[in-house]
Amino acid sequence: MNAIADEVTKEKPKTIYLKDYQTPAYEFEHVNLSFQLNEEHTTVSSSIDVRVQRKKETLFLHGDKSMQLDAVLVNGTQVADERLTRTNAGLFVSGLPEEDFTLKIVTTIKPQENTALEGLYKSSGNYCTQCEAEGFRRITFYQDRPDVMSKFTTRMEAAKDKYPVLLSNGNLIDSGDADGGRHFAVWEDPWRKPSYLFALVAGNLAKIEDSFTTMSGKKVDLRIYTEPHNIDKADHAMVSLIKSMKWDEDTFGLEYDLELFNIVAVDDFNMGAMENKSLNVFNSRLVFATPKTATDADYAAIEGVVGHEYFHNWTGNRVTCRDWFQLSLKEGLTVYRDQEFSSDMNSRGVKRIGDVSKLRAAQFPQDSGPMAHPIRPEEYIKMDNFYTVTVYEKGAEVVRMYESLLGKDGFRKGMDLYFERHDGCAVTTEDFFSAMADANNTDLSAFKPWYQQAGTPIVDVKTSYDASTKTFTLKATQTVPATPGQDASQKKAVLMPIRVGLLDKSTGKDIEIASVNGVAQEKGTTTAVLRFDQKEQTFTFENVEQDVVPSILRNFSAPIKMTTDLEEGDLLFLMANDSDPFNRWEAGQTLFRSLLVKLIADETNGKALEMNTKITDALRKTIEGAKAADADKAFIARAMMVPSESELVEMLEPGTVDPDVVKAARKFVMKSLAADLRPLLEETAKANSAPAYKNEPADRAMRSLKNTCLGYLSYVDAPEVAKDALERYQNADNMTDKIATLSALSDKVCAERETAFDAFYQEWQHDPLVMCKWLSLQAASGVPNNLGNVKALLTHPAFDIKNPNKVYSLIGGFMSNPTTFHQKDGQGYEFLADVILQLNDINQQVAARMAGGFTRWRKYDPSRQALMKKQLERIIATENLSENVYEIVKKSLD
Ligand code: ARG
Ligand code: ZN
Repeated sequence: MNAIADEVTKEKPKTIYLKDYQTPAYEFEHVNLSFQLNEEHTTVSSSIDVRVQRKKETLFLHGDKSMQLDAVLVNGTQVADERLTRTNAGLFVSGLPEEDFTLKIVTTIKPQENTALEGLYKSSGNYCTQCEAEGFRRITFYQDRPDVMSKFTTRMEAAKDKYPVLLSNGNLIDSGDADGGRHFAVWEDPWRKPSYLFALVAGNLAKIEDSFTTMSGKKVDLRIYTEPHNIDKADHAMVSLIKSMKWDEDTFGLEYDLELFNIVAVDDFNMGAMENKSLNVFNSRLVFATPKTATDADYAAIEGVVGHEYFHNWTGNRVTCRDWFQLSLKEGLTVYRDQEFSSDMNSRGVKRIGDVSKLRAAQFPQDSGPMAHPIRPEEYIKMDNFYTVTVYEKGAEVVRMYESLLGKDGFRKGMDLYFERHDGCAVTTEDFFSAMADANNTDLSAFKPWYQQAGTPIVDVKTSYDASTKTFTLKATQTVPATPGQDASQKKAVLMPIRVGLLDKSTGKDIEIASVNGVAQEKGTTTAVLRFDQKEQTFTFENVEQDVVPSILRNFSAPIKMTTDLEEGDLLFLMANDSDPFNRWEAGQTLFRSLLVKLIADETNGKALEMNTKITDALRKTIEGAKAADADKAFIARAMMVPSESELVEMLEPGTVDPDVVKAARKFVMKSLAADLRPLLEETAKANSAPAYKNEPADRAMRSLKNTCLGYLSYVDAPEVAKDALERYQNADNMTDKIATLSALSDKVCAERETAFDAFYQEWQHDPLVMCKWLSLQAASGVPNNLGNVKALLTHPAFDIKNPNKVYSLIGGFMSNPTTFHQKDGQGYEFLADVILQLNDINQQVAARMAGGFTRWRKYDPSRQALMKKQLERIIATENLSENVYEIVKKSLD
């Protein structure tokens, strides 16, 4: 029964389809788990109360081939071998009783050998788990699907000296000593949950404690566990947790539902963090922060992710997903919630700009490439490959559109109805949609294609003013491009909110919008929300007394690519005047983008590059704005940013991209701006250099502005610039400034660079998280022959291929470095393929993420295409390729 036949092991990767969904024939009421944690092996006994929903059906239990199956008992009796069939994916049990019964399963597993970091594994000598999406099946045989919800009781036993802390979900109901220097703990979770929310931790851990009193007066104990030497780094996470709990009560009336909430930080973790019921497990990168070791960006990320995982307690745990195709039900919604939380805690406009930049740099490329999929996918081979920017970030944009369409109050009504209807259930994105529509008594059917169609809608807007009728008209068209499996002709027009404001041309102020298409707007409206749901649609603003400049798609109210007939002068005007911070920023970005696309064409055609001095002047004004007493410096820093190379690549035609050209064009712009604005940049950097570090919003904004100025100045080729950067590096009293100065040096070939990188290594070699920063800065460097440096770092003591954070820093950093990865001879591609194949045998999830570096191969020029394709073909021809890597590579080649 344990031997898996060879043919089974060689099973072809199987595609799972949404259309095949069936409710389970057997429900699992209660699960009693017992873990014997030993150094050589761990024994897991699972005793399940089974409820028969449909009689006589064969029961399928998911179970990974790495497990040893020791026993299967039904109502206490061993099940005969002929009623058990084991495959690669699990175990079929036939001939089951027609009445409810108990099922007992015993397995033996080896967490200490688990390098995939799914299921039960060891990190820094401690036991921990990661079960989402399909990791529980590496612990025991189980219906490892989110619509099977059970009450879990977990007993664990381990050596007391090595593993003094024993944790699982829910409440501790028993604990004590056991024979042979061992001890045990029993945890009971009163809330029904799917197996993916199960967690167990056993280790030598220190903790910090605090508490929170909920709005109904219940006290909740809060604990954060880390390895003892890191316990001084968890305070910011604790503060963030308390803020999250308060925010969810204030914003959505959602209260925590147990007396204990634990967070455990682990160093080896595939993703960011995991919302296991009352026992969140976090990548230590998203817990640890001190001014000396973490940047302002790290602090913000920690606040956001602590919030995210906490918010899952309602959006994910109390209401969960019926099947994994519904992942965006919890992830899109929870990302939306964490974005709102961070916006309320910090600057809303700056947060929105950051989120949209991420969407454009990462999600838009995915949506126009071979891995494009709707936010609710219809098929997958490995679910882990669908924890994507599309499901998460585009999913959050879709949730945000409900808010824009229904208003804040309407959105809240929809949320309330959603919980009223579905608390304790495993549901679908349809259910969420219906709650929103029903609570607001409105027909949203034109909104549905957002869940079914992949691809970023392309919207074009033409505007005109008619002085005789005093009307301003906006004509919009929309199309959704073809994506794999969905041709353009199949795509429907989709409802999207377009937020529009109109600026008075003489004052730059918003005018009041009286009515649109004959519908009177609420008194005082300065931003109208247009419901755009046709392929072509005209919106007429009435009673517009004088010509205006329109501000269209305020706050980026829909995740689309928009073109308009606004001219350079209009954009400069919006950049200076728009009351909507997002569009004020966007006007500048639009100018930059069109300049850069032109420069890329010029560079390709061997024409001399020329800067648009109007843009330089506009930027000068923006930077000068920092002198005002009430200046929003964090915003100004954002407004100074030139679109990233990956954003630019996305704007170019497939089959044409030469990353060297893109880089040259962008570098030209940066150099021109730096040269022309040098005195102002230096003055601004100086004026915003604080004598000592403080972690207050105003101080963070100053740092951000100063470091943006220094980033520009690093494009000035002058020895004193490198000297100044090194000096600033040496004097920096916090990690934000250390990293900013180090990155200002990282593209330069000079002694200062070597001095700074060496000093950083000497100071921080004992801290693996800080070393990640050191690795990624070098991986991203533009110095000549950087590939050699990256290869050498692969065997450096600071690197560890088994640690995902290290791989993401070094290999991930390298992959997104156009000069090194895309070097013409194809050696960068060969190197990445080598690493992917090595990772394939260690950690398949991480390997598949690295394979993502090749998915956009068709974007590039023919010679690079051929070189990348060759590596994809080499990977797919490899024996024992994991399903994870296979799926990404296969879809890339299709
Ligand atoms: N639910 C987690 C989050 O959004 C992500 C866990 C995904 N893990 C994975 N291996 N696919 O925070
Ligand atoms: Zn999540």
